Amino acid sequence: MTDFLEPLRCPLCGGSLERAAGCLRCRAGHSYDLARAGYVNLLPPGKKNNAKTGDEKEMIRARSEFLRRGFYDPIDEAAAAALAEQTDAEKTPDPFCAADMGAGEGTHTCRIASILAAKRDRPVDILGFDASKHGAEAGCRLAKSLGFLPKDGIAAPPEDWTSPVRAAVLPGNIFRLPLADASMNAALSLFAPVPWDEAARILVPGGRLAVVSAGREHLGELRRILYDDVRLTDFHPAPPDGSARLRFLGRRTLSFPVTLSSREEIAALFMMTPFWHRVGDAGRERLAALDALTVTAEAELSLWEAAS
Ligand SMILES: C[S@@+](CC[C@H](N)C(=O)[O-])C[C@H]1O[C@@H](n2cnc3c(N)ncnc32)[C@H](O)[C@@H]1O
Ligand SMILES: [Zn+2]
Repeated sequence: MTDFLEPLRCPLCGGSLERAAGCLRCRAGHSYDLARAGYVNLLPPGKKNNAKTGDEKEMIRARSEFLRRGFYDPIDEAAAAALAEQTDAEKTPDPFCAADMGAGEGTHTCRIASILAAKRDRPVDILGFDASKHGAEAGCRLAKSLGFLPKDGIAAPPEDWTSPVRAAVLPGNIFRLPLADASMNAALSLFAPVPWDEAARILVPGGRLAVVSAGREHLGELRRILYDDVRLTDFHPAPPDGSARLRFLGRRTLSFPVTLSSREEIAALFMMTPFWHRVGDAGRERLAALDALTVTAEAELSLWEAAS
């Protein structure tokens, strides 16, 4: 099995990274701490301490609670199917490597990787990157609990450790991904800013990028409870003209009901949305009065292919 760390590169100079005591280090001497949680912090030095608020931690917890109940599973199924179709299994060397750009707390990352591994019946390595250390912590905790990451973390896989899926979420900037050129068979962006140029750079020729964004009607029922005046907008993520070496393959809309049957489930959904910070008291009170709610999840899945 190849080394899980092989595709990682120093975010400052692009050099490869070697294991050293308590850190990973490039030849130019840039070093990145290994955290107890099992990740290596690949945010460039100086950007590591942009203190994240307690709010952010709560949002991550809410997102984990919501996603782990499987409410968004149809999205993971569709994204994994789109990536699994792409390559001739015989021609792609193992493991199939994927990057999740803006992975959050890693639930989609781990689900998509395990569906992909099952569909292809081949090993999958997935590396998620997020600016949030809390996200990386939660993602690595989940990966460990699933057996996708050794208990001592990414930098210390025991010699005999094998797993059909290897996964980790690392603190990193998706607009300067700490990954080698043409090192990934697939890239994912779910409900996050899309670093088009970086996706094109890290993908092998013919590798696919799957982008999931909120559709026009996404969580419409929730928005109508929170706000008196709801304006629906169409948004189709696409690379700025001429800036990316990505070919558009197509897009589809996934629409499905999500039935929330307790105040806790409603709160978990609310807290993972941007409305949680923005909405006024009247909207909050209307929502707090409910103990069940069915909302429409509408996600747009678009697919792109790196030029050969
Ligand atoms: C709405 S969340 C989606 C998380 C996850 N993909 C999901 O669907 O559950 C967007 C994520 O993008 C991350 N993000 C935004 N800008 C980033 C950047 N420049 N580098 C890394 N992560 C970034 C945020 O920290 C946040 O976790
Ligand atoms: Zn370096």
